[in-house]
Amino acid sequence: MRNLKSIIDSKKLIRLLESHNPLSASIVELTDFDGMWSSSLTDSASMALPDCELHSIQKRLDNIQYIFNVTSKPMIMDVDSGGRMEHLAMNLNAIQRMGISGVIIEDKIGLKQNSLYGKDCQQQQDSIENFSKKLTYAHDVIHNHDFLLICRIESLILGETVQQALYRANAYINSGANGVMIHSVEKDPVMLMEFVDEFRKQHDVPLVVVPTTFNGVHASTFHNAGVNVIIYANHLLRASFNAMTTVANQILKDGMTANIESEVAPVKELLSFIPGNDPK
Ligand code: SPV
Ligand code: MG
Repeated sequence: MRNLKSIIDSKKLIRLLESHNPLSASIVELTDFDGMWSSSLTDSASMALPDCELHSIQKRLDNIQYIFNVTSKPMIMDVDSGGRMEHLAMNLNAIQRMGISGVIIEDKIGLKQNSLYGKDCQQQQDSIENFSKKLTYAHDVIHNHDFLLICRIESLILGETVQQALYRANAYINSGANGVMIHSVEKDPVMLMEFVDEFRKQHDVPLVVVPTTFNGVHASTFHNAGVNVIIYANHLLRASFNAMTTVANQILKDGMTANIESEVAPVKELLSFIPGNDPK
């Protein structure tokens, strides 16, 4: 498996695509994406569970083991708020042993809810002091120098200013983070870009963005501004969800499947996508 940190250090723009099971990961494997994002949202949604840390890191690792059995690209794992401090060391050990390239851990506390809800729900940001302690603790259990411990700053979603987000970035880097993800639910990411500009004047560590809501910004614009990693966080699952819903409804409406054949992969195409499926 290629070392993600060294690819980032070479200043190449890294693009990761969400992979929620071995089949979606195999699709990523055959594209030019640099690696995979293990998303709490899509891992949970594929189990029809809410994105609130109910689907545990250990269970998600079982799924990642199956993904790694059939793929070779690197992966960054979303570990939400990192869970209980008492569990963090064991989780991070398991994550490193499995060969995952890094984690993103977010500065929220309380019942975790998906960030894309923005201010539609009660979400609470952790104190700088508390989250910094968590990062230092995590840093101390990481034994692989190439492992990415990326802190995720929720300030721009939870009402803090760009200056406050920069202040947090500084504190988190000093506490052991070796990468920063700045999150935002802006449609036009004015504050996020201001953060990126200022951040780049102060820090050299990898900077990550997740352009789910600000989906009209081209990857090259982020790269030119100093972003190193772009995560397309949920798109394969959203694509299949739409397709499955349409096909399920259409079969009932038509009473037959002839009309949806053009919408679904031919069986032989699906079979031949999976290595070892060829007729013997
Ligand atoms: C995820 O993919 O689970 C993420 C990114 O954490 S977001 O959904 O934007 O919070
Ligand atoms: Mg998540």
